[in-house]
Amino acid sequence: DTEARVDALLAEMTLDDKVGQLHQVANINPGEDADDLRAGRIGSSLYASGATAGNERDEGVLAGVIDEIQELAVGGSRLGIPVLFGRDVIHGHRSVAPIPLGLAASFDPELVRQAAETAAREAVVDGIAWTFSPMLDISEEPRWGRVAESFGEAPVLASRLAAAATQGFQGDDPSQPDRLGACAKHFVGYGLSAGGRDYDTVSVGENTLRNLHLRPFRAAVESGVLSVMAAFNDVDGTPMHAHQHLLRDVLKGEWGFDGVVVADWNGIGQIVFAGVAEDDREAARLAIEAGVDLDMVSGAYLAHLGDLVRDGEVDEALVDDACRRVLRMKFRLGLFDGAAGPDSRPVGNAPTPESRALARRAGVASHVLVKNDGALPLADDASVLLTGGFVHEGDVLLGTWVLDGRAEEVVTPAAGLTERLGDRVTVDDGRFPDRTLQLARTSDVTVALVGEHPNRSGEANSVSDLRLPPGQLDHLRMLAGLRKPLVVVVYTGRPLDLTEVLDLADTVIVAWHPGIEAGSALADVLSGDASPHGRLPMTFPLSTGHIPTSTHQRPTGRLIRADVDHREGRYVDALTYPRLPFGHGLTYSTVDYGAPRVSDGELGLESATTLTVTVTNTGDRACREVVQAYFRDPVAQVTRPLVELLDWRLVDLEPGQSEDVTFEVSATAFSYFGTALTERVDEGEVLLLTGPDAATLQQVSLRVTAAEVRP
Ligand code: IFM
Repeated sequence: DTEARVDALLAEMTLDDKVGQLHQVANINPGEDADDLRAGRIGSSLYASGATAGNERDEGVLAGVIDEIQELAVGGSRLGIPVLFGRDVIHGHRSVAPIPLGLAASFDPELVRQAAETAAREAVVDGIAWTFSPMLDISEEPRWGRVAESFGEAPVLASRLAAAATQGFQGDDPSQPDRLGACAKHFVGYGLSAGGRDYDTVSVGENTLRNLHLRPFRAAVESGVLSVMAAFNDVDGTPMHAHQHLLRDVLKGEWGFDGVVVADWNGIGQIVFAGVAEDDREAARLAIEAGVDLDMVSGAYLAHLGDLVRDGEVDEALVDDACRRVLRMKFRLGLFDGAAGPDSRPVGNAPTPESRALARRAGVASHVLVKNDGALPLADDASVLLTGGFVHEGDVLLGTWVLDGRAEEVVTPAAGLTERLGDRVTVDDGRFPDRTLQLARTSDVTVALVGEHPNRSGEANSVSDLRLPPGQLDHLRMLAGLRKPLVVVVYTGRPLDLTEVLDLADTVIVAWHPGIEAGSALADVLSGDASPHGRLPMTFPLSTGHIPTSTHQRPTGRLIRADVDHREGRYVDALTYPRLPFGHGLTYSTVDYGAPRVSDGELGLESATTLTVTVTNTGDRACREVVQAYFRDPVAQVTRPLVELLDWRLVDLEPGQSEDVTFEVSATAFSYFGTALTERVDEGEVLLLTGPDAATLQQVSLRVTAAEVRP
């Protein structure tokens, strides 16, 4: 079995062999790095290239280079240990799906699973064995560019999608040749970077970490994720790459995680920049003690770990444990048995009709209709002006963190709409406002595409102003001046301040960055071939000055007054409420919600109660409704969120159809970490709330009749 094979191999390894396994390089060139490969000095790599490689983008070339490298590592080295190739396959490989925040808007774990499964199948064709995904940073700070890579603000949504993505990448057996190892990142608290500035410091207490930020990581670990990446940030002064308590005690100890903790890019070297280690040698010691197993590109382990052990400063058992984990992962991925090799991996990863159909479904599911004063769906005979900088864009609509998607494989909005509407659509790239106005005057409906270039979201791309990028509001003001139906589609990697856009437009869709089927998904939604059903996975603020504003808000010492729009201590110059609440999204129909009811108003620890809400499609079109359940624990040991997402159901409703939607609720759903940082369920009242979003809820009360504290 795996452990016996790891033991046998470890027994043959010298200290330097072990350290070599803990060293991940950015790039291997089989020519230049042949000696290091034969000596077993490179355990893992992010990329592969070389003089013989030619163009990596050509079919089979990358895999060919990787095979060449494995030949040197496996065939040419004393121990024959394969190199582990990782790559950022974040939301698709060739058949790029919507950005993760867009996928989260689908509220559909099965869709997320399928998207990850497709990404894995395509990536292994290029010889890749491991992806640095899913990203599980709880994200409530829209200025932070990396929210695009996340599953949003709600721990229960992020946790379920974490499990789905892990399952999609790894399957039941990650050693199957069409699977990738997954990596839950960035552990932990990165979503709290001060001011939304990437890589910034994080001040947070462990209670908040446990009640919010650690939860999706725990779900990924429970789903068998093979690796976890340490975050760039510190937590209350301790860089995460040196954070023994969170990495070693909580992740590896309390949760029993036996996979690999990988550093982020030069994360070990950054301990020095953060002023917490004198030099790389000290940083290496702190990181190995903290529980970072694999050093991503800093080189500190390769340069210093051996000497640190020989000089008695680091216990060799720590190196053994880290090496054991790396080897275990390689065995689990089947690398010793040729899983990623030329004889077993699938061939061909160009988008297929099936992968395109999935990307299109995911694209539709990620579109969130946030306002509709009747301009959509388009009437069958409507003439349409499609305008804005995104009309012909391929690259841009793929979104952030796309290494292998190809602009020429994207269905652009112009292509998608023309395919569906034929000569009823006029396409205008918006460069000449006077011409745009002329065209808008003679069209029945104007569809304006606005938003962010993906280089404005994603890593290292924070913004201080959440309004549309410069110039775009002027364009919309000009179009709105015509007083003709105006549909605005917002391509974005983050929640924006849409306050003025919502005032100017009749209809607004938040479409994120939708991937290779951007144009066909847009055509499906605009034409009404599909009813939009996405929901916002993050709260949209009223203005930049309004953040933080999310469902994480907790009660203060000042009562909330239902009869006025704000509570004491809030802004004197603005309303309190967010512009668009978490969970918000419309369909082309209307759905009525009855009052929620419970099968039993008392709930013990062993029992469950059924929460039911009757929803009725009161419109004249079929729709998919995301029926949401929230809860509030009014009295606890610590302040608890005013509302927290508990569960949801995707319900398809024909016109006139009513459905009783049920949620099985057990007391453990309300468990939380109290003052002693132990998980507990309290006796007492809990409010259950149902509705179409976090701000439109009806409630029923429930009594938990027993208490429990887990050690
Ligand atoms: O996976 C990424 C991470 O999210 C940010 N730094 C680099 C890593 C590897 O590319």
